[in-house]
Amino acid sequence: MRQSLGSYRRIVILTGAGTSAESGIATFRDADGLWAKHDISEVATPEAFARDPTKVLEFYNQRRRDVLSAEPNPAHRALARLEQELPLRCPGAEVLVVTQNVDPLHERAGTKNLIHMQGELLSAWCTACDARQAWDANMHAASPCAACAKTGTVRPDIVWFGEMPYHMQRIEDALAAADLFVSIGTSGNVYPAAGFVAGARRAGAHTIEINLEPSEGASYFHERRHGPAGMLVPEFVDQVLGSFRF
Ligand code: APR
Repeated sequence: MRQSLGSYRRIVILTGAGTSAESGIATFRDADGLWAKHDISEVATPEAFARDPTKVLEFYNQRRRDVLSAEPNPAHRALARLEQELPLRCPGAEVLVVTQNVDPLHERAGTKNLIHMQGELLSAWCTACDARQAWDANMHAASPCAACAKTGTVRPDIVWFGEMPYHMQRIEDALAAADLFVSIGTSGNVYPAAGFVAGARRAGAHTIEINLEPSEGASYFHERRHGPAGMLVPEFVDQVLGSFRF
């Protein structure tokens, strides 16, 4: 029997690759995941990019091509519905989605209050002028920056292993004020995201894990719901919205 949910006003949602799995986007640590086919140290570190930029750029070119035609699934759409409808039922209530994912599916589903803590496949970063720019084509070592026209300075706008995730202060502030923290589709292997549940609990938030199977951090959550996000997230959103009587 599902625990009934209280009425929550400051909701922080963390999403990982499992949220996009039903949209056909590969996860990382499942049996057929990206890290079963690619060595992190060869495609997802600053050292790898310095050593062999072509190999790294081709890895991200392939992932960028994969997301160009990907569609949001019911999990993405339910989270967008939660963001839109919660303030109508509870003025001032807010939903923040913090995603580890670099695909654009939350935006395509309509989520607006969104943090990409590990960057975005459809963005490029020029290390000469620091400009970030929309990028949906293949990227090459000599691709010119759209802002400063320099070549050899454009890289994927992706946070690689050993680099600091983006917007950490904003995330920590949101966790400190949360009354509900929900982790969806992440294995809980990578910090700092894997530690967000502890921060939310310190703030007194109720914490829920929604994942296909127990994550590394499952025991830190008050509640665990295991199954496909495309089924469990719409059900969760109906429960949260239903807890507010019109
Ligand atoms: N519904 C819900 N959960 C799912 C589904 C699904 N349809 N399919 C897979 N999962 C779960 C898996 O059980 C797994 O626990 O999603 C999780 C995916 O875990 P990872 O592949 O490790 O992805 P993630 O947790 O997002 O990785 C975090 O690690 O390597 C870095 O940068 C990479 O952002 C990534 C970070």
